[in-house]
Amino acid sequence: MATRGQWGSRLGFILAAAGSAVGLGNIWKFPYITGANGGGWFVLIYLLCILAVGLPIMIAEVMLGRMTQKSPVGAFRDLSGKGSLWVGIGWMGVVAAFIILSYYSVVAGWAMNYIRLAATGVFADTPADQVPGLFGAMYADPGTNLLWHGLFMGLTVFIVLGGVQKGVERWSRILMPMLFVMMLGLLVQAASMDGFGKALDFVFGLHADKLKPAGVLEALGHSFFTLSLGMGAMLTYGSYLSKKDDIVTASAAITLLDTAIALMACMVLFPITFTFGMEPSAGPGLVFMNIPVALAQVPGGLFLSVVFFALLTFAALTSAISLLEVAAAYFIDEKGWSRGKAVGVTGGAILVLGIPSALSGGTELFGKSFEGVFGKNWFDLFDYIASNWLLPLGGLGIALFAAWRVGDAARRVEFGEQTAWGRLYLGWLLVLRFVVPVAVVAVFLHLIGLY
Ligand code: PHE
Repeated sequence: MATRGQWGSRLGFILAAAGSAVGLGNIWKFPYITGANGGGWFVLIYLLCILAVGLPIMIAEVMLGRMTQKSPVGAFRDLSGKGSLWVGIGWMGVVAAFIILSYYSVVAGWAMNYIRLAATGVFADTPADQVPGLFGAMYADPGTNLLWHGLFMGLTVFIVLGGVQKGVERWSRILMPMLFVMMLGLLVQAASMDGFGKALDFVFGLHADKLKPAGVLEALGHSFFTLSLGMGAMLTYGSYLSKKDDIVTASAAITLLDTAIALMACMVLFPITFTFGMEPSAGPGLVFMNIPVALAQVPGGLFLSVVFFALLTFAALTSAISLLEVAAAYFIDEKGWSRGKAVGVTGGAILVLGIPSALSGGTELFGKSFEGVFGKNWFDLFDYIASNWLLPLGGLGIALFAAWRVGDAARRVEFGEQTAWGRLYLGWLLVLRFVVPVAVVAVFLHLIGLY
């Protein structure tokens, strides 16, 4: 058997894992669910979830990957024995990868299409108050959605075929820093807008009346989604991490970066929203409506909007890569498929699975309505199932497994007991054993309606 791929350096792992974490979740989804959930309290709960649940689970997940050098299913089988129920967590992760990438690719396709719209001058020729309408028109057009979904999946497959180092790592190294700089630039622009104060109050002001109970589940679910936790992406990336590297430092760095970009995205988008009298609760179109409007105001804005949507596409790509990697790694590691076959087959399956999501905005196709499963369209339904249920459940499983099943001696070494982090070991373990299960189960029970 060929030797297992490894990262070229520790920075390579951090960049790739951060590339997985930072994506549409930060720039597209977080602002729009913050808008939909009324700001302040939602953001605070989200931050708490990141710190008390997300970061500890990230450490556990990367650890399980590195201990076993396997992808999710194999990792749980190795540590708990064949036929054990724990292996189900690995399975659930593979299923979640298929579901998430199927609609993720549709949104990434929108971003790609927006590169084209920006580059061909469509935004420049459209009056500001009509730019938001361009999103609605695109959302409702099946052909456009299908085309760009297909192109994005093609691109993802192409990169994942290159394998760990040549594919994933090289791209992340160049594009992640660029994205960060672009966001900083946009932030400076947003800070000079009239709506900046209002935006600050919306994102950080605590107005108790606005939070709904379902918002708590959404905040919890999103903390998993945005950190790529609960489905084995970080586990798989951890399996390529060298034994010499320090898991806690890397996890903390990734979490910090991811959170910073999500908050930056809010502080870029909401000033635009309030300055131009748009709605914070505009939904999935938020970033696509706001950015072109704002950039039309600055010199060179046309060029900058091309750059912005290009970077958004790349951020989506580095996340999509990790999703496809989980799906493909299962067939490579467990079924002995070649990388080419595994990536081709899983990529093709996800392309097909994404079709209903790509058609979600159009109310009719071939005379049939694609809307209305449990009052949600396919797109929302997939997102809801994956982010709010599968990921928290998977994360809970990972936490319980790492904290109760894995041998203490090995776990201490993996945590880095000899390093400065050593003192945090017990605290981390207690959080995984008690805080995480109580938090996740409490939120679930509430949603099922048990109290
Ligand atoms: N974390 C990614 C984002 O925020 C999405 C993702 C979820 C990627 C789960 C991999 C696994 O966009």
